[in-house]
Amino acid sequence: MTKNKNELLKTLHQNKQQFEPDHPKEPDVGPEIKGNLNFGPYAAYFKIPQSLREGLLKKGKELVPGSANPKLVGLLGDQRVYTDEDKEWFIKQFQPYITEYVHGKANFDGQEFDGKNHSTSITLIDLWINYMKGGEFNPEHTHTGQLTWVMYLKVPNMLKEHEDFKGNGLGPGSIGFHYGEGTNGDWAQHTYKYLPELDGLWIFPAQLRHRVNPFYDKTQERISVSGNCYFNRPDMPSQAKPPRQAMPGWQY
Ligand SMILES: [Fe+2]
Repeated sequence: MTKNKNELLKTLHQNKQQFEPDHPKEPDVGPEIKGNLNFGPYAAYFKIPQSLREGLLKKGKELVPGSANPKLVGLLGDQRVYTDEDKEWFIKQFQPYITEYVHGKANFDGQEFDGKNHSTSITLIDLWINYMKGGEFNPEHTHTGQLTWVMYLKVPNMLKEHEDFKGNGLGPGSIGFHYGEGTNGDWAQHTYKYLPELDGLWIFPAQLRHRVNPFYDKTQERISVSGNCYFNRPDMPSQAKPPRQAMPGWQY
């Protein structure tokens, strides 16, 4: 008998039959969900520490304004690429979050974490900081690599704009994640929205579609940091930049 839904996922993953002919009789408790299948991309939410926020803000100030703009889809005036030295520093701070994500993903799928098959070793492709002003936005897009993230180092006060918003969509200043298509009746969740909070961090598959709506108050600013990475073989160390020779089929 399945004990809980994680147990069911593990059993399904191992392709083991649940066969207990001598199972003792249990009282009939009526319909009870014994488990479910976790389809879809795994997007995990974290909070970053003040030290990481302050480090990224300080290093961001010294970067060239707009240096990341040609590589990004955002309708933003100032997106900046971090230096190789910054990326070396960052990957040390960020590795525990990647490791935790990979463990969480295995659990989501009902798999036992196995260090030989589940890699936590990454190569950082890009790392950049966005200074978003009132009226600027990011249209729906995906990233290169395998995993991406967004962390919020400064957020505008959106209470007034949200109060004034009368629609039923994402609303001003929200980020929306989209996967699959809408269903007639809400049978498969295809959109999640999130109103950024200070130090909030989302890690998610790079091909998960997402967008950022504008807020309108021109006196306010939102600062976020995003990046891309791909996974290395499990026995390799993480590295802060890709080798000079790009792997076939990859664009950096
Ligand atoms: Fe993005």
